[in-house]
Parts: sequence; C-alpha cells; structure tokens
Amino acid sequence: MSPQLGAKAGSPQVGDRPRVVLGVAGGIAAYKGVEVLRGLTESGHSVTVVPTAAALKFVGEPTWAALSAHPIATSVWANAHEVSHVKLGQQADCVVVAPATADLIARATHGIANDLLTNVLLTARCPIVLAPAMHTEMWQHPATQCNVAALRARGVIVLEPAAGRLTGADFGPGRLPDPAAIVAAVQDVLRRPPTGDLAGRRVVVSAGGTRESWDPVRFIGNISSGRQGVELARTAVSRGALVTLVAAHLDVPIPAGVTVVPVSSAEDLLQAMAAAARDADAVVMAAAVADFRPEAVASGKIKKPDEPVNVSLKLSQTVDVLAELVRRREGELPVIVGFAAETAADATELAELGRRKLARKGCELLVVNEVGRQVVFGAEENEVTILGHEGTQVHVARSSKAAISDAVWDAVVHEWKRA
Ligand code: CTP
Repeated sequence: MSPQLGAKAGSPQVGDRPRVVLGVAGGIAAYKGVEVLRGLTESGHSVTVVPTAAALKFVGEPTWAALSAHPIATSVWANAHEVSHVKLGQQADCVVVAPATADLIARATHGIANDLLTNVLLTARCPIVLAPAMHTEMWQHPATQCNVAALRARGVIVLEPAAGRLTGADFGPGRLPDPAAIVAAVQDVLRRPPTGDLAGRRVVVSAGGTRESWDPVRFIGNISSGRQGVELARTAVSRGALVTLVAAHLDVPIPAGVTVVPVSSAEDLLQAMAAAARDADAVVMAAAVADFRPEAVASGKIKKPDEPVNVSLKLSQTVDVLAELVRRREGELPVIVGFAAETAADATELAELGRRKLARKGCELLVVNEVGRQVVFGAEENEVTILGHEGTQVHVARSSKAAISDAVWDAVVHEWKRA
C-alpha cells in the first residue's frame, strides 16, 4: 500500500459529495463502525462499505446497505466485469477502516491482498485512515507496533486506540477511538489537499492553561481553552505526524490519534515537554503557561477567618518552559516554535515586540497574535504573524485555528528543509 498523498486528478465525487470507502474488519467493535457510517453519511459523504467476511459475522450486510444506501461490496469475485476491487480504491477520496484489527493492520503493512478490503487498500491513492481496535496485548505486541510504525512512515494515518473497558473484563488501550473522532479525522484529511509532509515525523504540542496550586482546592489559572494547541495536534495527525499532546487544562475535546500526556503546573509541563522533546522533530509551545505561582502551597485547605480580613498572596515566578527547552536542546533538532500574545498600538509595534520575544526565547519560530482589540482565547478564529529567527515574516489573515495550524506546520517543514 502506498497512498499518494496529493490532490487526485479528476477526483470522481458523487455530486459534490466526497467518496469514502469504509472498510470494516472482523472485530467486536464492528458494531461501532455503524456509528462511523452514520456520522459520515450525515455529514454529507457518499460511503461504500467494504466489510471483511469476519466483520459480517458481527454486523450483517442489510445493516450496512440500509444505512449507506449503497449495495455492499464484499468479494473480489462479485461484479467481476466492473473490476470493483481496483475501481473502489482508485475512485475513493478517502479510505477509512474502523475497526482495523491486528490482522487487517498486518495484511495492510505487507501488501497482502487476499480479500476485497485489502485489494482496496492496495489500489487506493487517496489518504488512508486506520482506526484500530483490539485487545491491549495485541496492540502492544511488537509485531503490531512494528506494523503501525511502518504504515505511519508511509503516510497512512493510524489513529491511537482509546483506553478503557475492552470485550470481557479486560481494560487498557485497544478500544476503537470514539466514532465522532474517527469521522472528524476523515473530515480533516478531506478538507485540505493532503501532502503527508509530516509523515513519520515526531511532533510535540503543548496546549491549554496551566494551574498553579495554592492549597489542595485552589489554584491560579487562566482562561485559555487549548483550542489552538488541539488544532495543531489534529492537523499534524492528518498530515501524517506522530503527535504527543502535552495537555494542561483544556476546554475542548482531545482529537483522535494523539498520545496525551496530562499535566497541571508549569513545572509539570516542563518535565513532560523535556521528556517528549528528546526524540522529537518539532516542539510547539501553544500552552498558556502561568508566569507566577503561589510561593507556598498549603498542604490543607486554607480556612476563612471568622472576621473578614484582606489576604495577600505572595507569588514567585514560574520556569520559562520555552526558553528552558531551547537551552536544553542539543544539536539542530527539534525545531522549536513559541507563541506570543501581545497588545500593541499597530502592526509595526506588534512585529517589534514579537522580534524581541523571539530573540529572548531563542526558538526558531514565533507565532505572534494580538490580544486586546480582539478576543483570541477560546475563539474559533485568529490572525497571526509567524516570525522566523532569520528575519522571515509570514502573515496569516483571519482564519480558522485549523488553517493557522497548517500555516505553522508549513513553516516548520520549511525549517526542516533548511537544516
Ligand atoms: N511560555 C513558557 N513558560 C512560561 C511563559 C510562557 O514556556 N512561564 C511560553 C508560551 O507557551 C509561549 C511563549 O512562551 O509559547 C510566549 O508566551 P507569552 O505569554 O506571550 O510571553 P511571556 O514569556 O509570558 O512574556 P510576557 O508575558 O512578559 O510577554
């Protein structure tokens, strides 16, 4: 399987509807594939379902046919005159397999084409998304992990399975990612002409607001939603990267396909980022890190005095995670990207403040946005300027945080090419 990640000439869409092949492999999570199908059809995709013979033991043909409003393709021998084992893959805009079992992943890795679904995977030249589901032992087995790494290096998007209750009493990573997240991953890859330019790259993104404890129930925090960092992680997954999301407090859901490291304080964030950065190709600090923390943290809840009194809280400065990551870096990688929220009178002053911050932090790229006149925290859109350490400057006009994320990854790819 060698998906060519690029715009497909004459992509035969049904009307304006993107054409998706939904492969279903033989696992108990096949029943959740029905929800993926619903999500895809309801969001305007034309879906052809290709279940394996084993999948049909879990969910029968009439269910797939009725919900997709398409005949079900199950065999390379059916409608041989239409050569459907080749056409389905060639004509698809995206192939998604949910669930992808250990067996399906192994066959896909090695180019085995012994049923219709694996034929489709070999003939597809569009983005391929695999949503694994299997027992924890099977997922963690070196054979599966090796296969997943090989597929990802080829540009196939293999989502991380969710962790939780599996069939029977066992518990751990191996659950099918949330169907809504699988649908979102498909929509992401269809939204842009995919390039796969992050295929096999390891990237680390921090997101959300840190919290600095004062006592066991109180903290100093900020209003960051984490949306920009989460969009950076999501877009990196859809461009083929292996993504670690170091997540401080978030108000938005975590996208499928990322490895999540939850953190709370600035100090936690530094530890997690430094560990993840060791074998990373790029690090993006989108988290809103608290600059100050209570100097002392009480071990018990601080009681309110009987009589009203004014209370002062003594603060000390937190570690500058971004500057510290730059200081600890050895060699050329990772490329390090910071964000800067600035208030400025005009664009010239904004760029000047950004330049100063870029020099102070020592990172390669700084994504500067103006705060104050417009709301950025929690907003769906933003307008930024991406400053490079060699004087480059790319303005991204007001657009979605996903589009801004793409512009950031474009700048990172540019840095890799220069190195
Ligand atoms: N940052 C960090 N550690 C901190 C504060 C900020 O790593 N303790 C990072 C942010 O994640 C961001 C960049 O530094 O990528 C710039 O953050 P910003 O809040 O704009 O700047 P500060 O360094 O806090 O400086 P100032 O508030 O004085 O502008």
